[in-house]
Amino acid sequence: MIEAFEKWDLARRHIGREVRYFPRLDSTNQYASGLDLGDGENGLVILTNEQTAGRGQYGRRWLAGPGSSVLMSVALMPPPLLRRPVILTAWAAVAAAETIRLATGLQARIKWPNDLLIDGRKVCGILIEQGRGTVVGIGMNANQSEEEFAAAGLPLAGSLASLSGRDFDARELALELIEQLDAEYDPLLRGEHSALESCWAWRLGLLGHEAIVEDNAGQRHRGRVLSISFSDVCLESTQDGPIRFLPEQVRSFHRAGSAPMSG
Ligand code: BTN
Repeated sequence: MIEAFEKWDLARRHIGREVRYFPRLDSTNQYASGLDLGDGENGLVILTNEQTAGRGQYGRRWLAGPGSSVLMSVALMPPPLLRRPVILTAWAAVAAAETIRLATGLQARIKWPNDLLIDGRKVCGILIEQGRGTVVGIGMNANQSEEEFAAAGLPLAGSLASLSGRDFDARELALELIEQLDAEYDPLLRGEHSALESCWAWRLGLLGHEAIVEDNAGQRHRGRVLSISFSDVCLESTQDGPIRFLPEQVRSFHRAGSAPMSG
């Protein structure tokens, strides 16, 4: 079925040069992945008011009623050095956290690798899917109540409304998010990562703390976090001295003594 959409002209440099806004879609990631992505679609943003088959991490569903959330996918044709999910996830997470701060005054933490939390409640999730192009999917909970999350079996989820006590226009949040994404994409294209890396590391809230890294082989490592960058994560272990990981080798990363919340 061909879905009708509104086209928004935002005059953005990269992200949101074209925006397609759908009243309803199965999944914005599904739609964007189904496009024959080429350079003309680089930066195309797909938005919807409602998703009927939203995709989450690990093959889960992402549930969101009409008008409750920002439901966005960005179609990208990034240059090879930017085709790293760790960089694209950090880019999306920092832009989403900044959007939340501007809308609510609240600071969101990044939970490695893909979630944003406020007061321990998940308010935003990111799903990157790569084929010939790259699709960066962002779901931000705007207006759901605590009762709705409890009824859906998601007691650890939160929305901007449930955490700040007021309602939000998901379209306005989406416009701000596009602006944040666009502003940070240009430096990334020029290979300038350091501002993004610092914001990402700060929002992870792990530097200097005793933490646990679980690697992709399922092994757990404990130590004080010495550094976090897109090149490596370094822990100072009392037994083994410094241990370094590529970010891609790290499955979960959290402070010692705090349970890793499942995504
Ligand atoms: C997660 O499980 O935390 C990731 C959730 C990502 C959800 C967003 S909503 C917009 C985009 N379209 C999808 O189908 N999924 C992503």
